[in-house]
Amino acid sequence: MADIKIPFNRPGLTGNEQNYMADALQRGHLSGDGYYTKKCNNLLESELGVSKVMLTTSCTHALEMSALLLDIQPGDEVIVPSFTFVSSINAFVLRGARPVFADIRPDTLNLDEKQLETLITEKTRAIVPVHYAGVGCEMSVIGEIATKHNLSVIEDDAQGLFARYRGRGLGSFGQLATVSFHETKNFVCGEGGALLINDPQYFERAEIIREKGTNRGRFFRGQVDKYTWVDMGSSYLPSEILAAFLYAQLEARETITAKRKSIFEFYQENLADWCRDNGVRMPFIPADCEQPYHMFYLLFPGLLERTGFINHMRSKGIQTSFHYLPLHLSDMGRQWGYKEGDYPVTEKLSDCLVRLPFFNDITRAELEEVVEAVHSFSAGLVKV
Ligand SMILES: Cc1ncc(COP(=O)(O)O)c(C=O)c1O
Repeated sequence: MADIKIPFNRPGLTGNEQNYMADALQRGHLSGDGYYTKKCNNLLESELGVSKVMLTTSCTHALEMSALLLDIQPGDEVIVPSFTFVSSINAFVLRGARPVFADIRPDTLNLDEKQLETLITEKTRAIVPVHYAGVGCEMSVIGEIATKHNLSVIEDDAQGLFARYRGRGLGSFGQLATVSFHETKNFVCGEGGALLINDPQYFERAEIIREKGTNRGRFFRGQVDKYTWVDMGSSYLPSEILAAFLYAQLEARETITAKRKSIFEFYQENLADWCRDNGVRMPFIPADCEQPYHMFYLLFPGLLERTGFINHMRSKGIQTSFHYLPLHLSDMGRQWGYKEGDYPVTEKLSDCLVRLPFFNDITRAELEEVVEAVHSFSAGLVKV
């Protein structure tokens, strides 16, 4: 097995992270909700058109906060695509919810909105659309269905920060939305996330849940003379050090997005002919969507070809990655009775997908090497 020369991901720095972290130390406030947390929250609110943003320790934790805010109870049903990361549904399962999986659209790999209404029962409480690769789900249709059935929408926008659907920022459609700053995302701080709140009824309780179930926020604002335990909650605030790191990344959003756009376009231009000749699909971006250039994936005809390709790239020292095993076929998913054949598009495409190396600092020479390695793989592929 060749050593890895080109990794799948390498977190990139803007150059300002250390300065801002040193400044945070100087300021002498290291726990959450200080100077840099507020700067990140304000930047995100104004850029995304979201009423309130709260940095959290991860996207997973922002999803857990969402489940608490919605008062999800045992037996409630939450609709989520099977093709997603565990946290999209685990957060609700922690409160006793039953996952109701949806299949995905073959073009965008997003929740298939045409199936939504067939999945709704009197127990359904929420829909969690996941913007795969940061490409927007059909939010107009999903929003209409949710309103008609009085359901909450929580957008899992872990991958789509600053992307748009019909000109509007992702994360501004649901009552709640969540983003991730994990080191594999476009903007990172190691581990981190944010809860985006569009429905003002949740502002106050979100602040309490995030502060261990206390009204500490009101205390700091001088609205109560002591703080106490008022609700359920946990510790969902990231430290100022992480917020300072993140602010350097968010400030550089235009440069980072431009760099990622050029990577995406390099792959697209240099792999189009090869894909066409070998029956391999590239990402599809609907005209309604402005994408964040989060990833570049290839869809092979089947598992055999996909496995062959990953091994071929590995033999050239290039790390590629598959994504999301269907949740309905996981050990947990099967506990609710889900089985093979339930969600055919998810099952098929999950076997076919490979992600190519994609990170802010990838060099032109590395990109050329990846493309050359892809071109040298054809064994086993069906010519179309
Ligand atoms: C769709 C989706 N939701 C949630 C998460 C969890 O994000 P975090 O690692 O910030 O908790 C991920 C992580 O990759 C993800 O892809």
